[in-house]
Amino acid sequence: MPHVSDAPTQELDLSGLQAGFMWGAATSAFQIEGGAADRGRSIWDRFCEEPGRVVDASDGLVACDHVNRYRQDVALLKELGVDAYRFSISWPRVQPTGRGPLAAKGLACYDRLVDELLGAGIHPWVTLYHWDLPEELQNVGGGWAGRGVVDAFADYAVAVHAALGDRVRFWATLNEPWCSAWLGHGSGVHAPGLRNHPRAARAAHHLLLAHGRAIAGMRGQAPADHRLGIVLNLAPVGVDPRLAPDVATRLDRAVRRVDAIHNRWWLDALFTGRYPDDAYDLLEPHLDGVVSAEDLTDIGEPIDFLGVNYYSDTLLAPADPPRRDDEGEYPGIAEARLADPLPDATSLGWPITPDGLRRILVRITQEYPAAPPLVVTENGSAWIDPPEALAVDGPVPDPQRVAYLRAHLHALTRAVAEGAEVRGYFVWSLMDNFEWAWGYTQRFGLLHVDFATLERRPRTSFTAYRDILTSARRPTHSP
Ligand code: FCB
Repeated sequence: MPHVSDAPTQELDLSGLQAGFMWGAATSAFQIEGGAADRGRSIWDRFCEEPGRVVDASDGLVACDHVNRYRQDVALLKELGVDAYRFSISWPRVQPTGRGPLAAKGLACYDRLVDELLGAGIHPWVTLYHWDLPEELQNVGGGWAGRGVVDAFADYAVAVHAALGDRVRFWATLNEPWCSAWLGHGSGVHAPGLRNHPRAARAAHHLLLAHGRAIAGMRGQAPADHRLGIVLNLAPVGVDPRLAPDVATRLDRAVRRVDAIHNRWWLDALFTGRYPDDAYDLLEPHLDGVVSAEDLTDIGEPIDFLGVNYYSDTLLAPADPPRRDDEGEYPGIAEARLADPLPDATSLGWPITPDGLRRILVRITQEYPAAPPLVVTENGSAWIDPPEALAVDGPVPDPQRVAYLRAHLHALTRAVAEGAEVRGYFVWSLMDNFEWAWGYTQRFGLLHVDFATLERRPRTSFTAYRDILTSARRPTHSP
């Protein structure tokens, strides 16, 4: 059985986390909701229909049928003992074409969910955009590559915030805009499935601008206790640790470039008011007339939290022969590719590098003094259940997921000890779901989902997380 590196053998010491630290679990609309007949189409519906895009040729039409099973899911969240539940609003469910008045039926789904959560004592944590762009906005304005989507998103955000803001205090605009820009328009492994760097570069700007305008609009109507922010996927960038030092050194430029596109593009724009020079120079040919000084001011609209999604470090290896550098998810790196999986990797082949969570949290704190408090908005791992695990009575054993969870929580506590201000942690994911281009073949859930019966069943990571939360809340010294 693969082991999880850095897994702490000692008890997890969570006593350094601040009072009110928010523990949660996360999902997203397209990945769990189903109920497709009652919403507009998104770019992911189309992507799933295109042969060869999703490994098991599946789609999100039924998914986990959460729209019908939300009561049960909230009851499970309550049993898990979380303070908060991070979910996303399906834009095409509440605004089928991406513009115009909100659809009452679509909105009612979220009204019910929010009320159910509040009734269970759980904070609803809304993400406004988790990748399911209304298809119409792609067809008419070119989606995120066009500027028209910016105001459409801001209007949508303001309308949903107006509708649910009487009960929802926590709002994130975008989930992982790097993925929308570069996986959607660079490598094409996500919807809309394009391999076009000029469009990816423009999308990378329009996403940030849409975020900033949405924040400004929501802030204008938000009560003082609302917390508004954005969620980025950030990661230390390095080289495959198996490489000889001289080979590794030859990748220095590629490491800097990947860091620029993956991390600094977003962080610099949000918290320093400008794009990093190296990334901007690389993308400038695609951005003629696209970026203005006013745009950068809008992007820098103050936020109350930065959500950090962390799964693994990004590790590079030499590309031999050199690859094309005008396509793929990182521009300008002919000499490098993503490293082959380390022996210690999840079922997706993602390296298990818990210390990277500590390093990225500490780095944001040190390099971006203007950044707001941090929340780990996603962290988790995919594993395949062996048949004998599913045959067990009671929770499905998933020791690797438990080890991954504990190792990353340990890294989080070390980041806090080193000065990072981290206010919450959300595990990805509450349940197995539609894992994008991997369809239903990769499972991240604390709950196992049988996709034939849609039955949810706790894994041991569910009970382990519940026990961690219980102990985190226990006063360290009894009177
Ligand atoms: C993140 C996504 C989330 C899920 C995890 C595994 O990039 O935000 O929807 O797919 O990866």
